Amino acid sequence: MNIKKIFVIGAGAMGAGIAQTGITKGFDVVLNDIDMAFVERAKANMEKTFTKNVEKGKMTEEDKAAALGRLTLTTDYALAADCDLVVEAIFENYDAKQNIFKALEEIVREDCILATNTSSLSVTRIGSVLKNPARFIGLHFFNPVPVMKLLEIVVGLKTSDELVEAAKEIGLALGKTPVVAKDNPGFIVNRCLVPYINEGINILSEGVACPEDIDTGLKLGANHPMGPLELGDLIGLDIILAVMEAFYKDFGDPKYRPSSLLKKMVDSKQLGQKTGKGFYTYENGKKVK
Ligand code: CAA
Repeated sequence: MNIKKIFVIGAGAMGAGIAQTGITKGFDVVLNDIDMAFVERAKANMEKTFTKNVEKGKMTEEDKAAALGRLTLTTDYALAADCDLVVEAIFENYDAKQNIFKALEEIVREDCILATNTSSLSVTRIGSVLKNPARFIGLHFFNPVPVMKLLEIVVGLKTSDELVEAAKEIGLALGKTPVVAKDNPGFIVNRCLVPYINEGINILSEGVACPEDIDTGLKLGANHPMGPLELGDLIGLDIILAVMEAFYKDFGDPKYRPSSLLKKMVDSKQLGQKTGKGFYTYENGKKVK
Protein backbone atom coordinates (compact mmCIF):
# COMPACT_ATOMS: atom_id res chain seq x y z
CA MET A 1 0.00 0.00 0.00
CA ASN A 2 1.35 3.38 -0.91
CA ILE A 3 -1.03 5.68 0.92
CA LYS A 4 0.72 8.42 2.91
CA LYS A 5 -1.41 11.51 2.49
CA ILE A 6 -5.21 11.68 2.80
CA PHE A 7 -7.48 14.55 1.76
CA VAL A 8 -10.70 14.57 3.83
CA ILE A 9 -13.62 16.68 2.63
CA GLY A 10 -16.12 17.75 5.31
CA ALA A 11 -15.20 18.61 8.90
CA GLY A 12 -18.41 17.37 10.54
CA ALA A 13 -18.39 14.46 13.01
CA MET A 14 -17.51 11.88 10.35
CA GLY A 15 -14.88 13.87 8.42
CA ALA A 16 -13.23 15.11 11.61
CA GLY A 17 -13.26 11.57 13.01
CA ILE A 18 -11.66 10.16 9.86
CA ALA A 19 -9.01 12.91 9.94
CA GLN A 20 -8.30 12.29 13.65
CA THR A 21 -7.95 8.55 13.03
CA GLY A 22 -5.63 9.21 10.09
CA ILE A 23 -3.22 11.49 11.97
CA THR A 24 -3.25 9.16 14.98
CA LYS A 25 -2.21 6.28 12.73
CA GLY A 26 0.67 8.23 11.15
CA PHE A 27 -0.92 9.51 7.94
CA ASP A 28 -0.58 13.09 6.76
CA VAL A 29 -4.12 14.47 6.54
CA VAL A 30 -5.47 17.58 4.86
CA LEU A 31 -8.89 18.46 6.27
CA ASN A 32 -11.07 20.54 3.98
CA ASP A 33 -14.38 22.35 4.41
CA ILE A 34 -16.04 25.42 2.93
CA ASP A 35 -15.23 27.64 5.94
CA MET A 36 -11.95 27.81 7.95
CA ALA A 37 -14.02 28.09 11.14
CA PHE A 38 -15.35 24.53 10.54
CA VAL A 39 -11.91 22.92 10.13
CA GLU A 40 -10.48 24.94 13.04
CA ARG A 41 -13.31 23.76 15.31
CA ALA A 42 -12.60 20.16 14.27
CA LYS A 43 -8.90 20.61 15.11
CA ALA A 44 -9.75 22.15 18.50
CA ASN A 45 -11.90 19.09 19.32
CA MET A 46 -9.06 16.76 18.31
CA GLU A 47 -6.69 18.68 20.60
CA LYS A 48 -9.14 18.26 23.50
CA THR A 49 -9.47 14.51 22.84
CA PHE A 50 -5.68 14.10 22.59
CA THR A 51 -5.18 16.05 25.83
CA LYS A 52 -7.61 13.65 27.58
CA ASN A 53 -5.75 10.70 26.04
CA VAL A 54 -2.44 12.07 27.40
CA GLU A 55 -4.02 12.44 30.86
CA LYS A 56 -5.26 8.82 30.63
CA GLY A 57 -1.76 7.69 29.64
CA LYS A 58 -2.99 6.42 26.26
CA MET A 59 -0.78 8.87 24.38
CA THR A 60 2.38 10.88 25.14
CA GLU A 61 2.73 14.67 24.71
CA GLU A 62 5.14 13.87 21.85
CA ASP A 63 2.56 11.63 20.13
CA LYS A 64 -0.02 14.39 20.50
CA ALA A 65 2.26 17.05 19.00
CA ALA A 66 3.33 14.72 16.18
CA ALA A 67 -0.27 13.80 15.33
CA LEU A 68 -1.40 17.44 15.25
CA GLY A 69 1.69 18.27 13.20
CA ARG A 70 0.46 15.87 10.51
CA LEU A 71 -2.81 17.82 10.13
CA THR A 72 -3.25 20.62 7.56
CA LEU A 73 -6.45 22.69 7.38
CA THR A 74 -7.74 24.20 4.16
CA THR A 75 -10.77 25.47 2.25
CA ASP A 76 -8.97 24.88 -1.05
CA TYR A 77 -9.05 21.71 -3.20
CA ALA A 78 -5.61 22.56 -4.64
CA LEU A 79 -3.94 20.80 -1.69
CA ALA A 80 -5.41 17.50 -2.97
CA ALA A 81 -2.88 17.54 -5.83
CA ASP A 82 -0.27 15.43 -4.00
CA CYS A 83 -2.67 13.27 -1.95
CA ASP A 84 -2.93 9.49 -2.37
CA LEU A 85 -6.50 9.14 -1.14
CA VAL A 86 -9.52 11.45 -1.00
CA VAL A 87 -12.37 10.67 1.41
CA GLU A 88 -15.50 12.78 1.05
CA ALA A 89 -17.74 13.03 4.12
CA ILE A 90 -20.22 15.82 3.38
CA PHE A 91 -24.03 15.78 3.66
CA GLU A 92 -26.01 13.22 1.67
CA ASN A 93 -26.75 14.77 -1.73
CA TYR A 94 -25.88 13.35 -5.16
CA ASP A 95 -25.29 16.68 -6.92
CA ALA A 96 -23.07 18.06 -4.16
CA LYS A 97 -20.94 14.90 -3.98
CA GLN A 98 -20.70 14.50 -7.75
CA ASN A 99 -19.65 18.14 -8.22
CA ILE A 100 -16.86 17.63 -5.67
CA PHE A 101 -15.52 14.53 -7.43
CA LYS A 102 -15.78 16.11 -10.89
CA ALA A 103 -13.71 19.06 -9.64
CA LEU A 104 -11.22 16.85 -7.81
CA GLU A 105 -10.65 14.54 -10.77
CA GLU A 106 -9.06 17.52 -12.53
CA ILE A 107 -6.71 18.18 -9.59
CA VAL A 108 -5.58 14.83 -8.16
CA ARG A 109 -2.96 12.45 -9.56
CA GLU A 110 -4.17 9.63 -11.82
CA ASP A 111 -3.33 7.02 -9.18
CA CYS A 112 -5.15 8.84 -6.38
CA ILE A 113 -8.02 6.81 -4.88
CA LEU A 114 -11.37 8.61 -4.64
CA ALA A 115 -13.75 7.50 -1.89
CA THR A 116 -17.09 8.51 -0.41
CA ASN A 117 -18.24 7.93 3.16
CA THR A 118 -21.89 7.92 2.04
CA SER A 119 -24.27 5.97 4.27
CA SER A 120 -27.38 6.10 2.09
CA LEU A 121 -26.50 6.93 -1.53
CA SER A 122 -25.36 4.67 -4.36
CA VAL A 123 -21.58 4.56 -4.75
CA THR A 124 -22.04 3.55 -8.41
CA ARG A 125 -24.22 6.58 -9.10
CA ILE A 126 -21.93 9.07 -7.32
CA GLY A 127 -18.93 7.67 -9.25
CA SER A 128 -20.78 7.67 -12.59
CA VAL A 129 -19.68 11.26 -13.27
CA LEU A 130 -15.99 10.34 -13.18
CA LYS A 131 -13.87 9.76 -16.27
CA ASN A 132 -12.38 6.77 -14.44
CA PRO A 133 -14.98 5.24 -12.06
CA ALA A 134 -12.69 2.21 -11.51
CA ARG A 135 -10.76 4.34 -8.97
CA PHE A 136 -13.92 5.16 -6.99
CA ILE A 137 -15.10 3.26 -3.89
CA GLY A 138 -17.18 3.62 -0.72
CA LEU A 139 -15.26 3.77 2.56
CA HIS A 140 -18.03 3.79 5.16
CA PHE A 141 -16.83 4.66 8.67
CA PHE A 142 -18.90 4.56 11.87
CA ASN A 143 -19.53 7.24 14.47
CA PRO A 144 -17.49 7.94 16.63
CA VAL A 145 -14.85 7.07 14.04
CA PRO A 146 -11.81 6.95 16.39
CA VAL A 147 -13.61 4.37 18.56
CA MET A 148 -15.61 2.23 16.14
CA LYS A 149 -13.62 -0.69 14.78
CA LEU A 150 -15.40 -1.31 11.48
CA LEU A 151 -14.71 -0.07 7.96
CA GLU A 152 -17.39 -1.08 5.46
CA ILE A 153 -15.93 -1.14 1.96
CA VAL A 154 -18.62 -0.53 -0.65
CA VAL A 155 -17.91 -1.81 -4.13
CA GLY A 156 -19.51 0.11 -7.01
CA LEU A 157 -20.33 -1.63 -10.29
CA LYS A 158 -17.20 -0.20 -11.90
CA THR A 159 -14.84 -0.27 -8.89
CA SER A 160 -11.70 -2.24 -9.78
CA ASP A 161 -10.78 -5.46 -7.92
CA GLU A 162 -7.32 -3.99 -7.15
CA LEU A 163 -8.99 -1.04 -5.44
CA VAL A 164 -11.02 -3.34 -3.18
CA GLU A 165 -7.77 -4.99 -2.05
CA ALA A 166 -6.12 -1.58 -1.53
CA ALA A 167 -9.15 -0.43 0.50
CA LYS A 168 -8.80 -3.42 2.83
CA GLU A 169 -5.17 -2.45 3.46
CA ILE A 170 -6.18 1.16 4.10
CA GLY A 171 -8.75 -0.05 6.63
CA LEU A 172 -6.19 -2.18 8.45
CA ALA A 173 -3.65 0.68 8.46
CA LEU A 174 -6.31 2.89 10.05
CA GLY A 175 -6.80 0.28 12.78
CA LYS A 176 -10.17 -0.91 11.43
CA THR A 177 -11.52 -4.32 10.52
CA PRO A 178 -12.68 -4.16 6.91
CA VAL A 179 -15.79 -5.89 5.55
CA VAL A 180 -16.79 -5.78 1.89
CA ALA A 181 -20.32 -5.12 0.64
CA LYS A 182 -21.88 -4.64 -2.79
CA ASP A 183 -23.42 -1.28 -3.58
CA ASN A 184 -26.95 -2.02 -2.38
CA PRO A 185 -29.07 0.31 -0.18
CA GLY A 186 -27.72 0.33 3.39
CA PHE A 187 -24.86 -2.05 2.51
CA ILE A 188 -24.59 -4.41 5.54
CA VAL A 189 -24.78 -2.39 8.74
CA ASN A 190 -27.29 0.35 7.99
CA ARG A 191 -29.66 -2.16 6.33
CA CYS A 192 -30.06 -3.73 9.80
CA LEU A 193 -29.35 -0.80 12.09
CA VAL A 194 -31.41 2.06 10.66
CA PRO A 195 -34.78 0.21 10.45
CA TYR A 196 -34.11 -0.84 14.07
CA ILE A 197 -33.75 2.83 15.09
CA ASN A 198 -36.86 3.73 13.04
CA GLU A 199 -38.78 1.00 14.89
CA GLY A 200 -37.65 2.43 18.24
CA ILE A 201 -39.12 5.78 17.14
CA ASN A 202 -42.37 4.03 16.11
CA ILE A 203 -42.57 2.42 19.57
CA LEU A 204 -42.23 5.90 21.10
CA SER A 205 -44.82 7.50 18.82
CA GLU A 206 -47.32 4.69 19.52
CA GLY A 207 -47.00 5.54 23.24
CA VAL A 208 -45.77 2.04 24.12
CA ALA A 209 -42.96 3.36 26.36
CA CYS A 210 -41.01 6.50 27.25
CA PRO A 211 -37.59 7.21 25.59
CA GLU A 212 -35.59 6.16 28.66
CA ASP A 213 -37.39 2.81 28.91
CA ILE A 214 -37.04 2.10 25.20
CA ASP A 215 -33.28 2.74 25.40
CA THR A 216 -32.84 0.88 28.69
CA GLY A 217 -34.80 -2.02 27.19
CA LEU A 218 -32.39 -2.48 24.30
CA LYS A 219 -29.28 -1.76 26.38
CA LEU A 220 -30.08 -4.28 29.10
CA GLY A 221 -32.27 -6.64 27.10
CA ALA A 222 -30.07 -6.96 24.03
CA ASN A 223 -26.69 -5.77 25.37
CA HIS A 224 -26.44 -2.87 22.95
CA PRO A 225 -24.11 -0.04 24.11
CA MET A 226 -26.83 2.51 23.28
CA GLY A 227 -30.58 2.24 22.80
CA PRO A 228 -32.19 3.12 19.44
CA LEU A 229 -33.22 6.67 20.39
CA GLU A 230 -29.83 7.59 21.90
CA LEU A 231 -28.15 6.11 18.83
CA GLY A 232 -30.44 8.03 16.47
CA ASP A 233 -29.48 11.21 18.34
CA LEU A 234 -25.78 10.33 18.00
CA ILE A 235 -25.92 9.55 14.27
CA GLY A 236 -28.25 12.48 13.47
CA LEU A 237 -31.98 12.11 12.82
CA ASP A 238 -31.62 13.77 9.41
CA ILE A 239 -29.30 10.93 8.41
CA ILE A 240 -31.69 8.28 9.78
CA LEU A 241 -34.51 9.84 7.75
CA ALA A 242 -32.37 10.05 4.59
CA VAL A 243 -31.45 6.35 4.88
CA MET A 244 -35.05 5.26 5.56
CA GLU A 245 -36.33 7.34 2.63
CA ALA A 246 -33.74 5.75 0.34
CA PHE A 247 -34.76 2.24 1.53
CA TYR A 248 -38.47 3.01 1.10
CA LYS A 249 -37.88 4.30 -2.42
CA ASP A 250 -35.38 1.67 -3.54
CA PHE A 251 -37.00 -1.46 -2.05
CA GLY A 252 -40.61 -0.23 -2.40
CA ASP A 253 -41.53 -2.17 0.74
CA PRO A 254 -43.83 -0.59 3.40
CA LYS A 255 -41.68 -2.09 6.17
CA TYR A 256 -39.16 0.67 5.39
CA ARG A 257 -41.66 3.54 5.75
CA PRO A 258 -39.98 6.32 7.81
CA SER A 259 -41.68 6.97 11.13
CA SER A 260 -43.88 10.09 10.95
CA LEU A 261 -42.42 11.22 14.31
CA LEU A 262 -38.94 10.98 12.76
CA LYS A 263 -40.06 13.25 9.91
CA LYS A 264 -41.48 15.77 12.40
CA MET A 265 -38.26 15.74 14.42
CA VAL A 266 -36.28 16.55 11.28
CA ASP A 267 -38.78 19.20 10.10
CA SER A 268 -38.45 20.91 13.48
CA LYS A 269 -34.61 20.75 13.31
CA GLN A 270 -34.42 18.46 16.33
CA LEU A 271 -31.65 16.38 14.79
CA GLY A 272 -30.00 14.97 17.93
CA GLN A 273 -26.63 15.76 19.50
CA LYS A 274 -25.53 18.10 16.71
CA THR A 275 -28.44 20.53 17.30
CA GLY A 276 -28.49 20.02 21.07
CA LYS A 277 -31.98 18.49 20.94
CA GLY A 278 -33.32 15.19 19.68
CA PHE A 279 -35.07 12.57 21.78
CA TYR A 280 -32.88 13.96 24.58
CA THR A 281 -31.32 17.36 25.30
CA TYR A 282 -27.54 17.89 25.01
CA GLU A 283 -25.12 20.52 26.25
CA ASN A 284 -21.55 20.40 24.88
CA GLY A 285 -22.31 16.98 23.39
CA LYS A 286 -23.37 15.51 26.78
CA LYS A 287 -26.89 14.41 27.62
CA VAL A 288 -28.57 16.58 30.26
CA LYS A 289 -31.36 15.39 32.51
N1 CAA B 1 -13.87 10.55 19.86
C1 CAA B 1 -12.85 9.89 20.45
N2 CAA B 1 -13.02 9.04 21.49
C2 CAA B 1 -14.28 8.87 21.95
C3 CAA B 1 -15.39 9.52 21.40
C4 CAA B 1 -15.15 10.40 20.31
N3 CAA B 1 -16.14 11.08 19.70
N4 CAA B 1 -16.51 9.14 22.06
C5 CAA B 1 -16.10 8.27 23.02
N5 CAA B 1 -14.76 8.11 22.95
C6 CAA B 1 -13.92 7.24 23.79
C7 CAA B 1 -13.85 7.74 25.19
O1 CAA B 1 -12.82 8.71 25.36
C8 CAA B 1 -13.60 6.47 25.98
O2 CAA B 1 -12.22 6.15 25.91
P1 CAA B 1 -11.49 5.38 27.16
O3 CAA B 1 -12.12 4.01 27.20
O4 CAA B 1 -10.06 5.35 26.77
O5 CAA B 1 -11.77 6.20 28.36
C9 CAA B 1 -14.36 5.40 25.18
O6 CAA B 1 -14.55 5.94 23.86
C10 CAA B 1 -15.68 5.10 25.80
O7 CAA B 1 -16.42 6.32 25.91
P2 CAA B 1 -17.28 6.73 27.18
O8 CAA B 1 -16.72 6.07 28.41
O9 CAA B 1 -17.45 8.21 27.19
O10 CAA B 1 -18.73 6.18 26.90
P3 CAA B 1 -19.24 4.76 26.53
O11 CAA B 1 -18.44 3.67 27.17
O12 CAA B 1 -20.67 4.84 26.78
O13 CAA B 1 -18.98 4.64 24.94
C11 CAA B 1 -19.66 4.93 22.70
C12 CAA B 1 -19.46 5.61 24.06
C13 CAA B 1 -18.32 4.44 22.17
C14 CAA B 1 -20.26 5.96 21.77
C15 CAA B 1 -20.62 3.68 22.93
O14 CAA B 1 -21.79 4.09 23.57
C16 CAA B 1 -20.99 3.00 21.64
O15 CAA B 1 -20.25 2.19 21.10
N6 CAA B 1 -22.21 3.32 21.12
C17 CAA B 1 -22.68 2.77 19.85
C18 CAA B 1 -22.14 3.58 18.72
C19 CAA B 1 -22.58 3.06 17.39
O16 CAA B 1 -23.35 2.11 17.24
N7 CAA B 1 -22.11 3.71 16.33
C20 CAA B 1 -22.46 3.36 14.96
C21 CAA B 1 -23.48 4.29 14.47
S1 CAA B 1 -23.96 3.88 12.81
C22 CAA B 1 -22.96 4.83 11.87
O17 CAA B 1 -22.18 5.62 12.30
C23 CAA B 1 -23.07 4.61 10.41
C24 CAA B 1 -24.04 5.39 9.65
O18 CAA B 1 -23.86 5.54 8.46
C25 CAA B 1 -25.27 5.91 10.24
